[in-house]
Amino acid sequence: MASVTIGQLTFDPYINAEEIEQINANLADGIEAHYTEATDLIAIVVLKGGYIFASDLLRKVNRDIPVYFIQLSSYIDTRSSGTVQISQVNLPSLAGKHVLIIEDIIESGLSMQTLLGEDLFTETASVELCTLLLKPSELKAELDIKFVGKEIPPAFVLGYGLDYNEYGRHLPEIYQLKK
Ligand code: IMP
Ligand code: MG
Repeated sequence: MASVTIGQLTFDPYINAEEIEQINANLADGIEAHYTEATDLIAIVVLKGGYIFASDLLRKVNRDIPVYFIQLSSYIDTRSSGTVQISQVNLPSLAGKHVLIIEDIIESGLSMQTLLGEDLFTETASVELCTLLLKPSELKAELDIKFVGKEIPPAFVLGYGLDYNEYGRHLPEIYQLKK
C-alpha cells in the first residue's frame, strides 16, 4: 500500500484488506451469537460512511437480515462540526424489532447519541451499535457499543467508505492522516 494524497493532505497506509476482513469475520461471529434468540432483527446502516463496511459485514453474517439506511452528517474537512444532521429517514415501523445500527466510525459519539435519542427507537425490542472503528479517547457521549471492530488513536482515517470531504471512500484499505 502506498500513501495517497487528497487535496493538500497525505494519508499513510494503516489497516490492510486482510486485517479488515478478519475484523469483519470476528464481528459477524459476534452478531450471529448475540442474536440467536432474536427473531425480528433488522440492520440500519448509517450513510454514507457505513455502506462498504456494512455490505462486507452483512455478507459474512450467516443470517437473512433486512437492511435499511439512514443518513447522518456532522463532519466538515477533518473535524466534527458539532451538530449532527439526520436526513433520508425511510424506515419501517421499528416496534418490537431488534435493531442493529451499523456505523463506520465512532469518535465523540454525538452522532450515535443524537440518533438514539430519536422517537424512532422507543418501541424497539433492542437497539445495539456496531462500529468498524472506535476512537475511545475522543468519546464524549455515554454509549454502550456492543460490537467494535477495532479501537484506534484519534488521528483522522480515510478509505473503505470513510471520506475526506467526500473523497477517498473507494479505497479498499484504510489510511491514516500523516502527522
Ligand atoms: P462522532 O459523532 O464524533 O462520533 O462522529 C462520527 C462520524 O464522524 C462518523 O460517522 C464519520 O462519518 C465521521 N468521522 C469521525 N472520525 C472520522 C475519521 O477519522 N475519518 C472520516 N470520518 C470520520
Ligand atoms: Mg459515519
